[in-house]
Amino acid sequence: MSVRLSSIQHIIGTRHAKRFPAHLNLREEYLPYKALIAQVLLDKNPTIRTVINKTDEVGDQNAYRTFSYELLAGQHDLNVEVHEQNCAFRFDYSKVYWNSRLETEHRRIVEKFESGEAVCDAMAGVGPFAVPAGRKGCFVWANDLNPNSFGSLGDAVERNKVSRFVKPFNEDGRIFIRDSAMKLLETDTQVDITPKESRAQRQNRSLRRVPRTIVTSPKTFNHFVLNLPCIRNHLSSRIHWSLCRPL
Ligand SMILES: C[S@@+](CC[C@H](N)C(=O)[O-])C[C@H]1O[C@@H](n2cnc3c(N)ncnc32)[C@H](O)[C@@H]1O
Repeated sequence: MSVRLSSIQHIIGTRHAKRFPAHLNLREEYLPYKALIAQVLLDKNPTIRTVINKTDEVGDQNAYRTFSYELLAGQHDLNVEVHEQNCAFRFDYSKVYWNSRLETEHRRIVEKFESGEAVCDAMAGVGPFAVPAGRKGCFVWANDLNPNSFGSLGDAVERNKVSRFVKPFNEDGRIFIRDSAMKLLETDTQVDITPKESRAQRQNRSLRRVPRTIVTSPKTFNHFVLNLPCIRNHLSSRIHWSLCRPL
């Protein structure tokens, strides 16, 4: 029996993902053979540990945009590590939103941000906009309502060493978006980005010292990221535009 590869979603074992489950979206005619197909995939691909079948469309069932699935073969463990824009993210794929096909869009948006700008990411998920933006030296307020996304976002912030630039929040985006611009206005954030001195500089004080460099967060957001199409228009009306920086 041959199965068209187009009915199999997500590439497994790419250099961007560790332990990513093979994620099938089988057509009706293949469903009677789903266990067999899954076992063949498992046997023939040493990088695959788990094969699942989606049983609904992302977002059909819940606000967190997670999906229902059934385990077809292998270990029931959906903890994964993925890499995007030189940042690592660890999460349970069954409990948070993640779509590897958005990588180009994540990169395209982050490239628009300049170092030192302030970014409000109201539905940040596990942080594919927020964490790379923090790496660039943007001051990011990153929020997600899903406690699991918030947990993985916090992990990514620490893992990628951007805690001085990225603040995670776990609130309803509708409230977050209303309040964040006002709160930023009242918050002072400064980060010392002076490069570490070399050992020679530390040992010999007569060598020229590295000048101290402090960056200060703007008091107004330069960018808002609202990546939840169903309520995006509703949310943008809640932003205090008067407290935002005109571009
Ligand atoms: C389409 S996903 C985008 C996540 C992330 N920006 C990305 O590109 O992977 C939408 C996110 O919005 C979160 N979400 C849903 N309703 C929300 C709300 N009312 N407030 C804040 N976040 C919400 C979900 O948990 C999910 O992580």
